[in-house]
Amino acid sequence: MNSPYTPQKAEIVDIIQETTSDLDIKTFRIKFATGEEMNFLPGQFVELSIPGIGEAPFGFASSPKNKEFIELTIKRVGHLTDALHSMAVGSTVWIRGPFGNHFPLKELEKSKILIIAGGLGLSPLRPLILTMLDDENRNKYCDIQMLIAARSTQDFSYRRDFAKWRKVKDTKVLLTIDRAENGWDGLVGFPHNLVADLDIDYQNTYGVFCGPPVMIKAVSNKLIELGMPKSKILTTLEMRMTCGVGKCGKCNIGHSYVCVDGPVYRLDQLSSMPNEY
Ligand SMILES: Cc1cc2nc3c(=O)[nH]c(=O)nc-3n(C[C@H](O)[C@H](O)[C@H](O)COP(=O)(O)OP(=O)(O)OC[C@H]3O[C@@H](n4cnc5c(N)ncnc54)[C@H](O)[C@@H]3O)c2cc1C
Ligand code: FES
Repeated sequence: MNSPYTPQKAEIVDIIQETTSDLDIKTFRIKFATGEEMNFLPGQFVELSIPGIGEAPFGFASSPKNKEFIELTIKRVGHLTDALHSMAVGSTVWIRGPFGNHFPLKELEKSKILIIAGGLGLSPLRPLILTMLDDENRNKYCDIQMLIAARSTQDFSYRRDFAKWRKVKDTKVLLTIDRAENGWDGLVGFPHNLVADLDIDYQNTYGVFCGPPVMIKAVSNKLIELGMPKSKILTTLEMRMTCGVGKCGKCNIGHSYVCVDGPVYRLDQLSSMPNEY
């Protein structure tokens, strides 16, 4: 078994520019140089490094079923992500993982599901969505509504998926942007202000969401107000991380290490933790 501290050599085999706004987001398709497969579960993440530059955690964005490559969708925000965004197909990066817990796929079976994604928050939810929408699983996950938010029409990632997802039986995909734009026929407004208008049986639906911290708080409060039990609300967090394996203590919220106990949490767990996320 490889040590969780030892990165493996990998190659960028494709790069997809996701956004056309000033928010620079790219999806990197990556393969291990050895040809080895990476097995992971929806919600988990890897540590990606570039020698001499640094290392940072990124959530898997692709389907766990895809063994050809993994996808990481990465926003250009600083040191490492700048370097990565300047790389071309064929460049080498180093990967450790997979790390962290995952979405409780078994528990979500036979239940109605409401997915809410804000901006890049769709990225860690995408492996879950792709798993639930897979032909093999259509009888397990039936009623899936998705509310996908972006700042503007130029800020949506994975546009290529939306039409495909809408065609799957028993799914609904709603898109919203922060402010109205000419020619836009989707919703306008923040997700927490729209969720009450959706046709949802809140008591009997799982809410799974991810987005910036301000959205996590607003959406949590709204879902609770609408009657969704805290035990049925799931989110995934991003804290600063170093080791990824519960040793350095960099990522803790109270007694919980987000790299090991998370990044996926139920709201009843988060409610008993300090408000540090
Ligand atoms: C479990 C997990 C999954 C993640 N998945 C993704 C992903 O799929 N795609 C993606 O683009 N990013 C993801 N991130 C965030 C990513 O790790 C950071 O953006 C990355 O560390 C930035 O590295 P950098 O060297 O480019 O930025 P730095 O130069 O280190 O920082 C640039 C700016 O971003 C801020 N910043 C950096 N990291 C964080 C953070 N974790 N939380 C809040 N602010 C931060 C810094 O304060 C600074 O203002 C994830 C983080 C975690 C913990
Ligand atoms: S990142 Fe080191 S303990 Fe979590």
